[in-house]
Amino acid sequence: MGNASQIVRWSIYPSAEAVRQEAVALICRAADEAIARNGVFHLVLAGGTTPQAVYESLCEVSAEWAKWQIWFGDERCLPPDDPERNSLMARVAWLAHVPLPAAQIHAIPAERGAEAGAAAYAAALREVAEFDLVLLGLGEDGHTASLFPGQPWGAADAPAVLAVYDAPKPPAERISLSASRLSRARQVVFLVTGTSKYEAVKRWREGEAIPAAAIAPPDGVDVLLESAAAY
Ligand code: 6PG
Repeated sequence: MGNASQIVRWSIYPSAEAVRQEAVALICRAADEAIARNGVFHLVLAGGTTPQAVYESLCEVSAEWAKWQIWFGDERCLPPDDPERNSLMARVAWLAHVPLPAAQIHAIPAERGAEAGAAAYAAALREVAEFDLVLLGLGEDGHTASLFPGQPWGAADAPAVLAVYDAPKPPAERISLSASRLSRARQVVFLVTGTSKYEAVKRWREGEAIPAAAIAPPDGVDVLLESAAAY
């Protein structure tokens, strides 16, 4: 059974490139709206190759970078300069190339280990009641952020940030925002490209309780799908 309370809007695009373009436009719109409303834009980033292409494109746009606050949905417990770190990927692809103040880039301190890093990040997140936009990927097994099938995803009343010790995809030790914390957002957007995602999309659409189905913000989630991944 899927999460009965999740509202999903599926949008299908002919190519990964079209998904990328739509994602960039959507992020810029969300930023403008949030800044007009609150003077700040709280954005949560995902790892993965699809988001990476989006981040690279964000180097080319002009935005009020000084008003962006960057958070991360998950991280791998590796040294900060490890090429597998999501924070390093985002920095190299995008954040090092725009004048977004370093103090507004909130990397998960995963180098401290899952338990200590999760506690520190939960404390930092207390200042944000609601994210403006959460970006997420979809793994072939239906995982999102570092919420994996068969493990606790942090539904109602869960802590904001989870220590993960036995992720099936290496590295096993990770830190992830819980499904409930990721759902405290005005907008949640999944970026899904590649034929390898077809099975996970099928399971999601058929109502299986994969981790991606547990993300249930009040206004629902948008899934930007390359047609090759669409069921
Ligand atoms: C990880 C990856 C992973 C990724 C998905 C989708 O932490 O293991 O970041 O969760 O987001 O597998 O990835 P792609 O965008 O690369 O297809």
